Formats: sequence, C-alpha cells, structure tokens
Amino acid sequence: MPQNPRRIGLSLGADLCWPACFEAILERLDLALPMGDETVRFETGRLQIDPFDLTQPSRYDVVLDRLTHWYHLSREWIKKAVLMDDVYVLNNPWSLQSMEKQTTYTAMMRLGFPVPETWMLPPKDYAWTEDLKVTLQRYARLFDLGEVGRKIGYPLFMKPYDGGAWVGVTKIDDDAALHRAYESSGQRLMFLQKAVLPHDAFVRCVGVGPQVRVVSYDPDAPLHGRYQEQPAPVDETEAQTLRDMTLTINTFFGWDFNSCEMLRQDGVFHPIDFANACPDSQVTSLHYHFPWLVLAKLRWSLFVAATNRPMHRTLDWTPYYEANEDDAPFDVKLRRYAAIARERLDTDRFEEFCATHLAHLPEVAHDYFGSDHAHEAVRTKVASLYPDHEIDDFTERFWQSIQRWRDTEGAQ
Ligand SMILES: Nc1ncnc2c1ncn2[C@@H]1O[C@H](COP(=O)(O)OP(=O)(O)OP(=O)(O)O)[C@@H](O)[C@H]1O
Ligand SMILES: [Mg+2]
Repeated sequence: MPQNPRRIGLSLGADLCWPACFEAILERLDLALPMGDETVRFETGRLQIDPFDLTQPSRYDVVLDRLTHWYHLSREWIKKAVLMDDVYVLNNPWSLQSMEKQTTYTAMMRLGFPVPETWMLPPKDYAWTEDLKVTLQRYARLFDLGEVGRKIGYPLFMKPYDGGAWVGVTKIDDDAALHRAYESSGQRLMFLQKAVLPHDAFVRCVGVGPQVRVVSYDPDAPLHGRYQEQPAPVDETEAQTLRDMTLTINTFFGWDFNSCEMLRQDGVFHPIDFANACPDSQVTSLHYHFPWLVLAKLRWSLFVAATNRPMHRTLDWTPYYEANEDDAPFDVKLRRYAAIARERLDTDRFEEFCATHLAHLPEVAHDYFGSDHAHEAVRTKVASLYPDHEIDDFTERFWQSIQRWRDTEGAQ
C-alpha cells in the first residue's frame, strides 16, 4: 500500500554527489501535492545493508537503485520488495540480471535498428569440466577466424558479449591482430563487430523515464572530459530519431534509466552500446549535464511515487514485434515503437504532473546549484577520486561547469 508521506529509497554504493543534491532539492521543494483526496508529501532514505526476513515489509514506495548489477544482497532485497510490497524500482532488477549486450543487439536488430554487423565467437579457453570435454569433442568444429574477420571487414571491434567500462574491448585492423586478440581473450565470450569508422558524431543519449538528453561524447578524452559541454551536432530530426531510439530501447527492456551510445556515419546513427542500465551519474563525469540528470531523476521518481505508478514487473515485447510486421521503412516503424514507449511511460500525464506540481523546480534548482551545499557535494565527490593536490582545481572546474548550466539552461 502506498504510504503518505511517499518514501523514496536510494540504493547507493560509491555515489556521493547526486544523492546529496537529490535529497537537498527535494527538501527545498517542500512539496505537499493535492492528489485525489490526499495531500501527498515525500521523504527520502538510504537503503542500509542488513539481514532481512523475506516477509518484512518495505519502508519505501519507490527505490532508485545503483547496485543491482553487482551487489547481490541489495538486488535480492529489491526483488523481494517488488514481489511482496509492490515497490516500484528503477531499474527492473530481473531485466538487468538477464540483459547483456547480446540480448540488446539481437532484439534491436530484429526491430530494424542499424546495429553494425556483429558475430559471436566460441570462447578461446574454458574452465574444464567433465561434460565440457565430451561436448567440445563432439560438437566444437574447427573454424577459420580469419574468414569471419574478412566477412565482417576491417576495422572491427572485439568486445565481451556482456561487457562494460571498455574491459576487453580491442580495435582490430587486420587478420594478424584478430588472431592475437582472440588468443588472449581467454574464457570470455566475445563479439566481433564491424567498426563504425569513420563517424562524424558520437552521442550518448541518457534516458530517465520519458526524458532524454542527447550529449556529444568523446571516448578518447580523459574520464572528466568525455561528455562534451557543447550541444551535440544533430538537427531536430536527428534528435527526434535519437530520442525515439532511446525510449524504444529503454521500454523494450523495462529500463527507466539507461544510456545509449550511437555513432553517425553517412547520416545514419548506429547504436553500438545500449545496455547501460546503471549509467554513470557522477558530477566528475557529467559536469555541465549533472544538474539535468539530478532533476530528471527527481521529476520521474516524484511522478512515480505521487501517482502510485504500477511497475511493469514483466516485459511484454509483443507490441513492438507487431509494429514490425509489415514492410514499412525503419523511420515509420521507429515512430510506432516510440509511440508504444511514450504510452508505457505515461508521457502526457508525466508532463502535466511536472507543469502542475513542479513548476517551481527550475527556480529551486537554480538557487540550489549555486549554494554552498551543492559546492560541498561536488567537492566531496572530487575528494573521493582525485589526489589531494588536484582536489581544489577539479572542484573548481566542475563547479564552473555547473555555473554555466545555471546561466544557460538553469536560468530558463
Ligand atoms: N562498432 C564500433 N564502431 C566504432 N567504435 C566502437 C565500436 N564498438 C566499440 N567502439 C569503441 O569502443 C568503445 C567501447 O566499446 P563499448 O561501448 O561497446 O564497450 P563498453 O565496455 O560497454 O564501454 P562503456 O561501458 O565505457 O560504455 C566505444 O566507446 C567506442 O569508442
Ligand atoms: Mg560504451
């Protein structure tokens, strides 16, 4: 049963900056929303790590989870809370557990997304077990790795089927390099993927509920400079396509929060990495874009909590497949998928909620992101990552980005 005040739980690990800002802005908003015959208020809390009785009721109505992909106790608590107490969690822990790059590539290829040609390879090495030996003896066939490379064409990328953080990702320019990379790939299951090179735009699209921000991204820059401050070099039609692709991906997999990487070649955006359902949220990466992300999370979790939005516990792919049944061109199909996505995300009701109940959020956020409290949140995060002699400089650098956000978007 929804509680009043609605309680929003934060399930956190190394996160420091965005939760501090999220909590402080919520407090400053001082919300008391007339919803039906209730006046709805909000509280936040941070999930603690304790033993728990499987039947113990949850204190939270909504949980923003940052740990599911690696910290299993929290994930299992959250699954219990969804099953037992109707808690709404961002993101659906079952979908995160089962979705890797492989699933996301395959599903979006089926929907017609221009994912580059991708092959999966049998692993180079194995942890030996009795059944494995007989299986490989009977069924593993010698294959010509060079032929696969030639079919795809160089350059190509080798990457783990379930990877993240660039671990095991290698750009490969020829047959010899392909053999070297495969020899050292060990037990990891690997893809070979055609490189989208050259490309003239690299964007990361961050989606939170129906909100999408398209950000230019430079993967070769140091971590603090990868998200680019200047607007992505895309026109409005392209921006719409990117938003539609992001929302389709996110709703197909049941993710409220995800980021999608896409590369533009000859005017077409190719998605290459879009299973990031726990994307970086730190000011030390996002800098100028950080306030947007904090506010997007706040708006969406308040909407979910205030309206008692039911969580999609299971995934239903049928409507997307049905929208793909005829021979219509991809842009027409994409509009159909995106319409399903926007409906699933209750977009009209969300926008109305923000206009009606959060009209003062921009002003509160503008004040807050100029405050000592916000400055301290930035500094604390910087201090946790940088050596002592760099703390002042990097704090100032990220702080100035946030001030530029206040002077531009934040002032509107
Ligand atoms: N098909 C491709 N064409 C061009 N560049 C690619 C391709 N695949 C990967 N890359 C490059 O390699 C980088 C890492 O690959 P990818 O994003 O797929 O792996 P990841 O481990 O999920 O990375 P992260 O978690 O940092 O996003 C990309 O940011 C991009 O620069
Ligand atoms: Mg990536």
